[in-house]
Amino acid sequence: MERRPDEAAREGLEDAPAMPDVDLTVPSIARVYDYVLGGKEHFEIDRRVSAALFQAVPESRQLAADNRGLLGRAVGYLVGEAGIRQILDLGSGLPTEGNVHEIAHRIDPSVRVLYVDIDPLVLAHGRALLSNEDTTEVITADIRDVDGLFDNAAVRKLIDPTQPFAVIASGIFHHFSDDQDPYALADAVKARLSPGSLFFISNFLDDDEPRARDMQRAFLEGGLGTGRFRTWDEQRRFFDGLEMVEPGLVYANDWRPDERTPAESPTHTLYAGGIGRKP
Ligand SMILES: C[S@@+](CC[C@H](N)C(=O)[O-])C[C@H]1O[C@@H](n2cnc3c(N)ncnc32)[C@H](O)[C@@H]1O
Repeated sequence: MERRPDEAAREGLEDAPAMPDVDLTVPSIARVYDYVLGGKEHFEIDRRVSAALFQAVPESRQLAADNRGLLGRAVGYLVGEAGIRQILDLGSGLPTEGNVHEIAHRIDPSVRVLYVDIDPLVLAHGRALLSNEDTTEVITADIRDVDGLFDNAAVRKLIDPTQPFAVIASGIFHHFSDDQDPYALADAVKARLSPGSLFFISNFLDDDEPRARDMQRAFLEGGLGTGRFRTWDEQRRFFDGLEMVEPGLVYANDWRPDERTPAESPTHTLYAGGIGRKP
């Protein structure tokens, strides 16, 4: 990478948090994704993994962009149309363009946003970006421990579970294998939702085309070891027990497209998402 992550985060920040030690021999999902998105926080090992992805699907950058576009529109809906004022973002990733709190705060600066990620670099870079800790926080946690998560002091400070809130699981469940049972994880999250709460979920899609399998192979065998493309039926299971918000679970770019949504994306059929409402 051009700069050490500590240099990037510390620029102009005397009291920036200490940077975590990073094992340069192990790729990280957050850094690989940052590289594919065109960001700056990645190492050689992450770029090597990404090369396998680009070889499988040369338009992988568009896939990441489609995902970010969908996330942005979903946040716009959650805060704008649905009136949500508290958001828990699971597997939030490194800060990038159009972060969840920025989109939310353009609509209402009082919206509370809590970012959760297992990668300690996300905390280091996220803290450097945030200016108002009354409304927005970043924590390092493993979202598979749902009880521990909802017991976390930052979650209890920012999320009032008796009121409707939104949970975002954008591009995260596909990083759990079937053995890790992401459906049970989704169920545990849904059990915590108060009535009227909304759950946004998006994932890699296996729409029965070879590129999905090629890319899954690149993810699983190209060094990262995670990245499961799931069928429509598999994806629907994540929403079991919820009422789907229109237009339901659809291709990423078909979910409430706006003027910036590409009319024809080369990766249109490789990604899907939707929002479910807890009755
Ligand atoms: C592909 S990125 C998605 C980032 C962002 N949500 C988006 O859609 O643009 C997946 C993120 O999930 C995080 N992650 C993976 N496993 C996790 C876990 N068990 N607990 C918390 N975060 C996790 C990774 O560190 C990474 O930042």
